[in-house]
Amino acid sequence: AAPCDIYASGGTPCVAAHSTTRALYSAFNGALYQVKRGSDGATTDIKPLAAGGVANGPAQDTFCAGTTCLISVIYDQSGRGNHLTQAPPGGFQGPEANGYDNLASGIGAPLTLNGQKAYGVFVSPGTGYRNNNAKGIAVRDEAEGMYAVLDGTHYNNGCCFDYGNAETSGRDTGNGHMETIYFGDNTVWGSGAGAGPWIMADLENGLFSGPNVKNNAGDPSISHRFLTAIVKGGPNKWAIRGANAASGGLSTYYSGARPNAAGYNPMSKEGAIVLGIGGDNSVGAQGTFYEGVMTTGYPSDATENAVQADIVAAKYAIAPLTSGPALSVGSSVSLRATTSGYTTRYLAHTGATVNTQVVSSSSATALKQQASWTVRTGLATASGGQCFSFEARDAPGSYLRHYNFELRVANSDGSKQFREDATFCTQAGLSGSGTVSVRAWGFPTRYFRHYNNGGYAASNGGVHTFDAAGSFSDDVSWAVATGFA
Ligand code: AHR
Ligand code: AHR
Ligand code: AHR
Repeated sequence: AAPCDIYASGGTPCVAAHSTTRALYSAFNGALYQVKRGSDGATTDIKPLAAGGVANGPAQDTFCAGTTCLISVIYDQSGRGNHLTQAPPGGFQGPEANGYDNLASGIGAPLTLNGQKAYGVFVSPGTGYRNNNAKGIAVRDEAEGMYAVLDGTHYNNGCCFDYGNAETSGRDTGNGHMETIYFGDNTVWGSGAGAGPWIMADLENGLFSGPNVKNNAGDPSISHRFLTAIVKGGPNKWAIRGANAASGGLSTYYSGARPNAAGYNPMSKEGAIVLGIGGDNSVGAQGTFYEGVMTTGYPSDATENAVQADIVAAKYAIAPLTSGPALSVGSSVSLRATTSGYTTRYLAHTGATVNTQVVSSSSATALKQQASWTVRTGLATASGGQCFSFEARDAPGSYLRHYNFELRVANSDGSKQFREDATFCTQAGLSGSGTVSVRAWGFPTRYFRHYNNGGYAASNGGVHTFDAAGSFSDDVSWAVATGFA
């Protein structure tokens, strides 16, 4: 039995079931998600390899070869049509055209399930999915349950990496108008034990870790690489539970009465669905989503325990974040532009500014050093020692980073933000021919690109001038050579 079969047997069936990694009903063999590719805007549906099985990750790889892909739809497997698509503007605007949120890259969160390659949904700040016309989701004080499998190492303190029940208007309509799983280390509202991250419930105008409005010591910091997170709620009761999604059972971190604050008892749930954003379309958060469901009725602990056993049996495991031409840590490299007309230019820096410059073996030593980078292990903890950071050859302790999606060279301040902004993952160059493309670990839709001879972390189409789709594949494909210096 798969998770939604288990919830159905328990009398609390799924009314939404979302996963890019596997079927959540043992009989499900329909579309799990849709990807849209950058080269021609074509879309395709990714299905399980077999009924009840793992997503066909290799089919995505084939469809997206030599270009970029975005996850454009996360289908609802429950049959209710509660699909998740690009979130529209709400109380807050997203960064995409017309205030929409960004879509996730198809390749930001690779993994294996029982050895088979699949992809999760890597949510960067600005990314969000939503369904404001969902059917059959709990409203008002009706009972519901939900779980999600997440990457417990990928989080931040922005508002709000949520999955679950939110406002149909995309606006903050008051306390008790949401009920979602939240994951991260935001402390504006609630917190648990330690420094976080925590599983909390976003109930609107509050992230709750237990019955108290602020701190509840019973909710532990939790950061399993694969994390099962549960929130459920019914008339004057709710619970938070969590587990390692790769082994063992669930623990209960809170189970009891609604928070002692006005507006949360009874609840005023509205029945829309969000992923990666707050109820009012706050888009500051990051996290990774692999699978999750929402049920009607308050699931028993025993039902959830059986779901957790099924998740463990699915065998979530990490997969490589890098591919293509190998870079060796400790070596010095130079990256040459391959766009026709610019092939004598190398990725370089002039002080903090990153650009391309014409460099050759007869250039001055200073220029050679400006165009040479020492390869380091990726500084972002959540990259798990995969991916790379690029230290300026002439400024030890300074690294290539993106800031407002411009590339810069800056001295490391050691912060999580810096380390994440300075971590990049390599893959075969989009234009082929032995080149490499280098994507931002934290924004996997964005790649090292030269544009007007400046350096950017650019997406294949988007709101910035440097995101222009024209010559994107060539501009993000670099010839790797031994460093000039
Ligand atoms: O409850 C926390 C956040 O507050 C909600 O997600 C958002 O709608 C509001 O800004
Ligand atoms: O480059 C995009 C973002 O801009 C970085 O992640 C952040 O540090 C800055 O605000
Ligand atoms: O960076 C040089 C060129 O500037 C790029 O190839 C092009 O995209 C832009 O016009």
